[in-house]
Amino acid sequence: MTLFDEIGGFETLKRINKAFYDKVYAHPWLGQYFKLLPREQIEKQQADFIAQAIGGPDNYRGKAVISAHLHIFITEELFQIRESLLQAAFQETGAPAALIEKWNKIDQAFKPALISRSVAECSPRFPGDGILSFSAPEKTSAIK
Ligand code: HEM
Repeated sequence: MTLFDEIGGFETLKRINKAFYDKVYAHPWLGQYFKLLPREQIEKQQADFIAQAIGGPDNYRGKAVISAHLHIFITEELFQIRESLLQAAFQETGAPAALIEKWNKIDQAFKPALISRSVAECSPRFPGDGILSFSAPEKTSAIK
């Protein structure tokens, strides 16, 4: 029995992804990176990607993860925001511990390759393609 079967297959992955992308799309900074992308597509790609990594069907037809992010400026801070939203989605949906452990390991393994120190480290996917980069919205302070 694979981890995919043990955790309840696509049903479970879909439930977690729904909760996760609700938070991602609603986030004032991270959400900007996703707003032009159809949610069904991104949720399906993500579910297929994780499914394949935990012994599920080989459905993933997206790009290799690193190539898919070369044009995206991802800072350490932004990466951590994404991770904390993911942990919140795990808690909210009662995700199985074994899945949480594996999923976090995958994300951490890709982290050094996905993070850049400056926009100059990013590269367009094709000539004329833009770099996806947004600054953090201004933090509002209670003390003015
Ligand atoms: C803050 C961190 C991240 C940001 C801002 C981000 C953003 C994005 C965006 C905007 C896309 C759509 C790209 C496009 O086709 O136009 C994408 C695709 C994708 N991301 Fe991320 N991502 C992050 C971290 C991660 C991590 C840690 C993983 C998993 C290891 C991951 C896995 C994927 C996958 C599998 C796709 C689909 C690629 C495809 O369809 O070809 N991402 N990401």
